[in-house]
Amino acid sequence: MAGRVDHPLTDERVREVLRQIKFPGFSRDIVSFGIVKSIGVTDRNDVTVALHVMTRDPEVPRQIQRDVETALKQFGGIGRVNIEMTAQQPPQQGQMPMAGAGAAPARPQIAGVKHIVAVGSGKGGVGKSTVAVNLACALASLGQKIGVMDADIYGPSVPKMMGSVQRPTITDEKLNPVENFGLKMMSMALLLDGNSPVIWRGPMIMKAIQQFSLAVNWGELDVLLVDLPPGTGDAQLSLAQTIALDGGVIVTTPQDVALEVARRGIAMFERVNVKILGIIENMSYYVCPHCGERDDIFSHGGGKQEAARLEVPFLGEIPLFTEIRICGDKGLPIVVAEPKSEPSKAFLRCAETVSELLEKG
Ligand SMILES: Nc1ncnc2c1ncn2[C@@H]1O[C@H](COP(=O)(O)OP(=O)(O)OP(=O)(O)O)[C@@H](O)[C@H]1O
Ligand SMILES: [Mg+2]
Repeated sequence: MAGRVDHPLTDERVREVLRQIKFPGFSRDIVSFGIVKSIGVTDRNDVTVALHVMTRDPEVPRQIQRDVETALKQFGGIGRVNIEMTAQQPPQQGQMPMAGAGAAPARPQIAGVKHIVAVGSGKGGVGKSTVAVNLACALASLGQKIGVMDADIYGPSVPKMMGSVQRPTITDEKLNPVENFGLKMMSMALLLDGNSPVIWRGPMIMKAIQQFSLAVNWGELDVLLVDLPPGTGDAQLSLAQTIALDGGVIVTTPQDVALEVARRGIAMFERVNVKILGIIENMSYYVCPHCGERDDIFSHGGGKQEAARLEVPFLGEIPLFTEIRICGDKGLPIVVAEPKSEPSKAFLRCAETVSELLEKG
């Protein structure tokens, strides 16, 4: 671009055009899905766009290519358009060999539960539980039947965030989940007495997780969301080996260091053949509760870049917003307490994308 300071066409303008193109069958655009790998514009306004799609449907890359060509031609003032399209099949769940274990064993489904999705991260305190609970409420507000399973047996926080701490009843030797805001929920915290320390080791964790997933009367659910403990240890592996997870959602904050742990979280899901549904960037930007002004305090956007780099969908950004914490502490998730607020809308957008992805398989 040397010597052409007044060049009218920039990568950014091309990106804006691409933002108008929806991923086939989805309400989300191809840029936020992380499909666009690079954009190049020459002095003659020739445009090269590199796209990479993960799909099992060969029509999807063809459709995207056609839509990109049409959109760029309609924009006007663009010379030659060169689209470099690559497509890759995502690994099919349960078909890839497990590391060192031959073919993956078929894992039992939970009867009546359509989709099981784990929410995890390689790191503590990034807002996994907050995201799991609010995402659950947002999915429920879309009319879906939702359950939340708190698999964090060392630091269970879901019952407090959902304001439900009563003991579960038992029917036919199975635990009945407690219900609040139209959601079903089960947590080890509901079975323990106040301050009893949880000092279980690996095999006991395995047992507890198995009980949770298989010995709870979940009934009919569209989605069971599982809030994982921080890290990539026993609980995550037990869960992935106990039930057939349909996908993993990775929660990250925008800083590089948090992204590094998100990468570890992704590697953990991949090791046990769980498909990555996508990345949610939490505490993405700050919204001042007084003036509504936005501030990118943690260099916002890292989650989206990371999703693009790792070729997984980007599910959305949740702002850092004091009310989210206050609502969590009160046991009334913000999506229920203030459904019209900016963070609630952000959770709803994530929920829409998650349910679209689950529908498409
Ligand atoms: N977007 C947000 N805006 C404001 N506060 C938030 C946001 N997300 C999470 N928090 C607050 O940050 C704290 C940690 O969140 P949370 O417990 O959900 O994290 P976690 O990743 O589940 O932690 P752990 O690793 O301990 O399980 C909580 O006090 C929560 O209310
Ligand atoms: Mg948590």
